[in-house]
Amino acid sequence: MCGECHTTAYRKGYDDATDSYRTTWAEAKVGCQACHGGGRAHTESTRAVATAGQGTPRPTANRALAGAHAQVDQCAACHARRTRLVEDAMAGAPLLDQFMPDNLRADLYHADGQQLEEVFEYGSYRQSRMYQAGVACTDCHDPHSGKRRAEGNALCTACHNATPDRARFPGLLAKDYDAPAHHFHTAGEAGSQCVDCHMPSRNYMVVHGRRDHAIRIPRPDLGAKLGTPNACQDCHADRSAEWAAQAITRHFGPRSQPPHYGEILTVARRGEPDAAQPLNALISDMAQPAIVRATAVEALAALGGAAPAALHDPDPVVRATAAAAFAARPAEERLARLPALLSDPLRAVRIAAARGLADVDEGRLSTEQRAQLHAGLAAFVAAQQAMADMPSAQLNLAGLAAARRDPAGAERHYRRALARDAQLQAARLGLATLLAGSAREDEAERVLREGLARSAQPGELHFALGLLAGQRKQWEKASYELRAAAALMPDHPRVRRNLDAVERYLQQRR
Ligand code: HEC
Ligand code: HEC
Ligand code: HEC
Ligand code: HEC
Ligand code: HEC
Ligand code: HEC
Ligand code: HEC
Repeated sequence: MCGECHTTAYRKGYDDATDSYRTTWAEAKVGCQACHGGGRAHTESTRAVATAGQGTPRPTANRALAGAHAQVDQCAACHARRTRLVEDAMAGAPLLDQFMPDNLRADLYHADGQQLEEVFEYGSYRQSRMYQAGVACTDCHDPHSGKRRAEGNALCTACHNATPDRARFPGLLAKDYDAPAHHFHTAGEAGSQCVDCHMPSRNYMVVHGRRDHAIRIPRPDLGAKLGTPNACQDCHADRSAEWAAQAITRHFGPRSQPPHYGEILTVARRGEPDAAQPLNALISDMAQPAIVRATAVEALAALGGAAPAALHDPDPVVRATAAAAFAARPAEERLARLPALLSDPLRAVRIAAARGLADVDEGRLSTEQRAQLHAGLAAFVAAQQAMADMPSAQLNLAGLAAARRDPAGAERHYRRALARDAQLQAARLGLATLLAGSAREDEAERVLREGLARSAQPGELHFALGLLAGQRKQWEKASYELRAAAALMPDHPRVRRNLDAVERYLQQRR
């Protein structure tokens, strides 16, 4: 699990059939080829040039290190929370042909996009104005030594100063930031460093301090509203967020604070249907970071909504997210929209579109689309095979097999998922549903009961046991299980509805 980012040319070599590994890597650290790609053509041509005394050597394989966005993508292979899509990642290939980066997941980021868990920079940096303006990781970091280009505030004032390079970055303001006039703290003391306010640090694994690479303006006014942290209170822990917000206003004067996506995502995370309209506006606001718009697509889908326009967004992360979210739509809608994405230039988008069409009537597709669908599904399977030792990959394979009406395959993969992680409840529920649907109710019941002992959410299992008993017309048992489920999940409307129906029926019978 660690080698794929901590070595060079890592190949996990996991064999699903025999549950064994033949793992290989070229170097036990991040070596030249991890970023530059294979070097043989480069070194051989260099030797040839030296021998002949003329000619020019071929450059290294990875040309993508030159442009800012493509370069940040190269770093993201390791400096991101992401899902692997291929067994052999190749430096220089587009990110979404090899990995799907995570959006601003609620378990990783605060609602306003600040780091919550350790996220390895990329997802944060994608939110930054600096990323949008074309600043690369290597503007601040020397990729070879790992050192920063300058120490302290000098790193930032290289660009943020009274005579900025407007030719390269037209958006820069001409200001002296490294002065109390901007930071209103004593120069050289705590609170006067640019990173103090713009890149607050959090410790992960207890001792590793990580700076938030969203490089944002501190907004304690939002903290007061959303309950998100702010840089000021890292030091002024004894003061309130309101105090910090007022201190900023005292210094900079009253000014209009632009609405922040954190406000919309907070309402969406609470599951409030009112969030749908502002989410739609956020998704189509091209001035907002793509990772934020993609997160909004997911949030909208969680509320039962869809954003068809996002399927054709210029940013591939938004397209791939929208395609994956679209899998929950009715078959007719999917048939109308998803086939166009089967020929997207990027693998992550094609895979998501194919998965979303896995269960449709293929007769409705053209010959060409059918071939594209099969290629996309093969890529989906290959992506899962690259991590088939992970229970989640087995669950994905089971889901695909079920969608393709292959119950034997689905059962095999559900059982493998459970063998790797007996607590993976989605696999347990999926397997039970599959067995119950093939007239193997006793086995379904056994699978569910096995889970009860170790489940973190036994309510769901009791609910499934209740429904299973209902299916078998065992009404007393159904009532017993549904009552157990209702006690554990009092707010679950479907549990209540089913329990009421069963109780009513029992009443009438008595
Ligand atoms: C997705 C890629 C990825 C995976 C997988 C990964 N790491 Fe890392 N790890 C990194 C990156 C990138 C850093 C550098 C810190 C950063 O980016 O914030 C790092 C830093 C570290 C550090 C701190 C090193 C230092 O010098 O500060 C340790 C220790 C570490 N990783 C251990 C592990 C272990 C153990 C595993 C397996 C359980 C693992 N990592 C899996 C990408 C990864
Ligand atoms: C973490 C990624 C990374 C690793 C590892 C890495 N490089 Fe680089 N390298 C880059 C980037 C990015 C550039 C582009 C230069 C820039 O933008 O500063 C670069 C540029 C270069 C250049 C062009 C000249 C220059 O310095 O700008 C050479 C030569 C080079 N690297 C050789 C190597 C060698 C040899 C190794 C192994 C010892 C290596 N690199 C390891 C990322 C890396
Ligand atoms: C193959 C995976 C991989 C790639 C690609 C990669 N890194 Fe890293 N990087 C790591 C790991 C792992 C660490 C943690 C410690 C170590 O091994 O040096 C790290 C550490 C770092 C550090 C901290 C160094 C320090 O001494 O504190 C910086 C800065 C960094 N990487 C920048 C970059 C940049 C910029 C790029 C893209 C040009 C890049 N990395 C590409 C895996 C990677
Ligand atoms: C290579 C040049 C460069 C360097 C170095 C640099 N910046 Fe920036 N920064 C920019 C550009 C370009 C923008 C975007 C200006 C615009 O709005 O178009 C920007 C924007 C910002 C913003 C505004 C963010 C927002 O949401 O409005 C902050 C804050 C910021 N930078 C802080 C820093 C800090 C802190 C450092 C040092 C750790 C730093 N910058 C280093 C170029 C740079
Ligand atoms: C004590 C906290 C603090 C420190 C330290 C600090 N800033 Fe700021 N910075 C702010 C606040 C607050 C704003 C928002 C100002 C506003 O809303 O008008 C801001 C805004 C900015 C902006 C956005 C453009 C602008 O002018 O409004 C940039 C760029 C920036 N800071 C760069 C820097 C740099 C570079 C340093 C270090 C030399 C630095 N800041 C140090 C608090 C700080
Ligand atoms: C505007 C400058 C700037 C940019 C751009 C930038 N960083 Fe950083 N980075 C910093 C600063 C400042 C630190 C903090 C160093 C410290 O406190 O020791 C840092 C720290 C790190 C670290 C060490 C662990 C941590 O999070 O504190 C890693 C790894 C890293 N950066 C990787 C990246 C990668 C990858 C990118 C591009 C996606 C990137 N950085 C873009 C300025 C920048
Ligand atoms: C890295 C720590 C640090 C951070 C971050 C920081 N401060 Fe401070 N702040 C200090 C220290 C230390 C002092 C007292 C010494 C001084 O005046 O520089 C101070 C003094 C102040 C004062 C004047 C004295 C008082 O208590 O009334 C105000 C106002 C203030 N900070 C507001 C802010 C605001 C607002 C932010 C966020 C934008 C912020 N600070 C971020 C460390 C910090």
